[in-house]
Amino acid sequence: MTLRIRGLAKRALVVAEDLYYKKVIKNLLKTSKLGRGVVLTGAESGVNFEHIYNNKPEGSFLIGRYVDKALLSLKTAQATRGRKETIKKMLNNEIQNNRLFNRKTKILDLASGTARYLRELSEEHLTGAVESTCIDKDSACIKLGRDLVKRDGIPNIRFFRGNIFHLNHLRKLAYSLEWKPNVIIASGLFMYFNDDRVEEMLREIYDFLPPGGLLIFSSYERVGIRKLMRKTMTTSTGEPWILYYRKPEHVRHVLHKIGFEQIFVIRDQWEMSNICLGRKPERICCIDDNQKMGQQ
Ligand SMILES: C[S@@+](CC[C@H](N)C(=O)[O-])C[C@H]1O[C@@H](n2cnc3c(N)ncnc32)[C@H](O)[C@@H]1O
Repeated sequence: MTLRIRGLAKRALVVAEDLYYKKVIKNLLKTSKLGRGVVLTGAESGVNFEHIYNNKPEGSFLIGRYVDKALLSLKTAQATRGRKETIKKMLNNEIQNNRLFNRKTKILDLASGTARYLRELSEEHLTGAVESTCIDKDSACIKLGRDLVKRDGIPNIRFFRGNIFHLNHLRKLAYSLEWKPNVIIASGLFMYFNDDRVEEMLREIYDFLPPGGLLIFSSYERVGIRKLMRKTMTTSTGEPWILYYRKPEHVRHVLHKIGFEQIFVIRDQWEMSNICLGRKPERICCIDDNQKMGQQ
């Protein structure tokens, strides 16, 4: 009997908590710009991430701005801004190295959102040392990205709408543009997909890159606001919010297995968002080479 009462009380608590998140927290979130975006338009949208990068609270009345400020101060939001800075540093290093060889850096940004980390490398795009092609499935991101590069007068960054899981389309696009990337970025993407899907994508990226090409992507170890996300936020497709967390050892192992070299996993101070790098070897060692080495 007591067990039954305990079970009923537990269930009542869960229902009450769900109701509290649905009626109170969700409506409170909707007063703020970021909260409204993540509740109504799909939490993963690059448009919401542009607001996180801007880090300027907006909302309806004082309460909305207060809630926005609280959301923008969350460690998850700070980690997102941190990952942008790390990506920029890694890109800058690659650009300077390519310069030594008079090589242009050609960046393909998969699931780019508004590609803030690329737009902030405006000088490098202005000089023509860098050219970027950004792909996202969300037309609102594409429009905002195009508007922002136009507003800021940044040349050599173009945005296209597309699904990055159709890499064949990307190959065709690269072919028709007569443009092949030597750097591929995927930031804020892989945590939405399971291990098999991510590994398949990483293999395709490896094949797509030229020898010596660099891959940069972000990977989440954990997120601090899981309950809030699960109970109040939706994805753009209406699917449940499932995030896949990965430890550095796992990422390292998968990259190595595929054939990437010079693997780096840079952990942030909260051990939340990691930036991972791998390079396709300049010279792919084939069976013949191994046999020759064995004969020597
Ligand atoms: C979290 S945002 C990241 C935006 C940007 N890369 C950044 O780090 O600031 C994720 C983006 O992935 C895009 N996206 C998700 N699945 C995609 C797919 N299959 N093809 C293209 N874009 C996709 C979404 O539209 C969204 O803009």
